[in-house]
Amino acid sequence: MAKTTEVILALDVPTQQDALAFLERTRGELTWVKIGLQLFTRHGPDIVKAVADMGYKIFLDLKLHDIPNTVSSAVKSLKGLPVELLTLHTVGGAEMMRWAVEAAKETNPDLKLLGVTVLTSMDDAQLRETGVPTGAPEQVERLARLGQASGLPGFVCSPLELPSLRKILGDDSLLVTPGVRPAGADLDEQKRVMTPRQAAQAGASHIVVGRPILKAPDPAQAVRAIAQELRDA
Ligand code: C5P
Repeated sequence: MAKTTEVILALDVPTQQDALAFLERTRGELTWVKIGLQLFTRHGPDIVKAVADMGYKIFLDLKLHDIPNTVSSAVKSLKGLPVELLTLHTVGGAEMMRWAVEAAKETNPDLKLLGVTVLTSMDDAQLRETGVPTGAPEQVERLARLGQASGLPGFVCSPLELPSLRKILGDDSLLVTPGVRPAGADLDEQKRVMTPRQAAQAGASHIVVGRPILKAPDPAQAVRAIAQELRDA
């Protein structure tokens, strides 16, 4: 892949105060920050504006899933907010995704929608309970094809799904991958991980890294080391 894989910090901290204090320590080293449900539910658009005002690009991980009108209205409600990546569930269906893509175009030319396929917390038994008879890999591929056909420019996927999705979706699709751990880092509860280099080589356009940066004694240095590994991949 010609483009260097980019690092996104998963800003999984409880409050805006914690978030902004932490981001002072990585300013200038890090481009992307993922704001998830924990911070957004508490602070709403204010946290997005505050982080963007520090110069970071925003990945808003809300995993939208509702009827097409509600999802597209939610996307339109982001108008004026500097969000560049936003997640939604592909299992919401083609119509929901198409409406969301149209809404994104109207809302913000920089906004790209990322599809979530099968949550990695779901195993095959749990999928069967929800009426999906095939295993997770097949369902991931089916939903990714549907998402791409519905106009989604990218997907969130596990490191293990990268090779097959890159092959199916082609070079232009964004593939954003959590579950990444630098060699020797604590795995926390992540089970099937790749290193930044492996994820880049397997086709990730972006990697999402939380605790290895959040818990590092020198977070700026941790970001620099990951970025270097990605450039060398
Ligand atoms: O701290 P860590 O690097 O494990 O954080 C990974 C981030 O990616 C968290 O925000 C987590 O919610 C998210 N994520 C994940 N696995 C998935 C989907 C999202 O770890 N399958």
